[in-house]
Amino acid sequence: MNSGELTSSKEILQIVSLGEAGELAEVVESNVNEAFDTVTRQIGDKHVVLCARAALLLALPLAVALLFMGLLDGKRIVITGVLTDASLAFGVAELALEQGAEIVLTGAGRGLRLTERSARKLGDGIAVVEFDVTEPSHADSLRDFLDGHWGRVNGALHAIGFAPEICLGGTFMDAAWTDVKVALEISTYSLKMLADAVAPLMGASEADSADADGGSRGSGGSIVGLDFDASRAFPAYDWMGVAKAGLESTCRYLARYLGPQGIRVNLVSAGPIKTMAARSIPGFSEFEDAWTQRAPLGWSITESGAVSRTVVAMLSDWLPATTGSIVQADGGFHAVGA
Ligand SMILES: NC(=O)c1ccc[n+]([C@@H]2O[C@H](COP(=O)([O-])OP(=O)(O)OC[C@H]3O[C@@H](n4cnc5c(N)ncnc54)[C@H](O)[C@@H]3O)[C@@H](O)[C@H]2O)c1
Repeated sequence: MNSGELTSSKEILQIVSLGEAGELAEVVESNVNEAFDTVTRQIGDKHVVLCARAALLLALPLAVALLFMGLLDGKRIVITGVLTDASLAFGVAELALEQGAEIVLTGAGRGLRLTERSARKLGDGIAVVEFDVTEPSHADSLRDFLDGHWGRVNGALHAIGFAPEICLGGTFMDAAWTDVKVALEISTYSLKMLADAVAPLMGASEADSADADGGSRGSGGSIVGLDFDASRAFPAYDWMGVAKAGLESTCRYLARYLGPQGIRVNLVSAGPIKTMAARSIPGFSEFEDAWTQRAPLGWSITESGAVSRTVVAMLSDWLPATTGSIVQADGGFHAVGA
């Protein structure tokens, strides 16, 4: 056998869309070839050396591919809440793509155009679907789209929050039910609505296993939501804090009801990051000061990388026994007193 007849490691890796890994493989491969040329010259048995070289060159692409495998390779993830590139969900989308996922974004109302613009920044051909959580029919239309587009969904990010102005910034006692219910509908109930849209495409029901597509649906999935610690009453956060407390409880109930289908539901409780939603909270600077002074690991309100990484880890297969949990990505702020 002549190693020259083999497809090169670089070509094999390009076939499996690991172009970057292909560059590394090329360098390693040329060193391997050089080493074997030297050995051939020294021991003289050309056939033995050629067989060893062929075996090594076949194994090389596999080894390099394993080295470059993304945490979300092959996963199909729905990401809500990408408004601008400052959105927490934008950072998650960027990292999910980097880690091998295919993504669909959702947007709502007047923000839909901004979501479409952000999608173009993330890459070519990323679908954007309208999903306004105040429109009950949008859960069905999102599910129909995903069913036609992918059939199977592996993960979803809930990054949706809104409260009328009166609900934030120290006017807690002035907010009426008509204001508060908007905050609860958009920021709390919407987690259940997203679950309505994606869970039927994740779960492991008997009907799904018997599907004509050979039961490709049905090995569960991961739903992750973005939270802000609701165990204490913070200045200015007001009714949004109440909405987040409800979100935390909704997460636990969804974990209970969707667990039997293999679906995990968790929240990532993030420290303060300067996004569009955060800017609309009067008194946001108080959070900034408190976090910068107290978070044991330190905190920057312009760095959302830690939040993205935590969410991507939760969307991956690496926390298979974790559901109904709140994972803190806050620099350790929650753990310390004044
Ligand atoms: N920024 C922070 O400091 C911080 C900290 C912890 C948690 N969070 C949470 O992260 C999530 C994302 O917020 P962000 O800070 O990235 O701000 P953002 O303004 O970028 O995102 C908020 C998103 O909510 C969406 N939204 C509002 N009304 C909607 C509706 N009716 N239907 C569907 N979507 C709707 C908006 O389109 C937007 O994409 C929110 O749940 C927020 O509470 C933010």
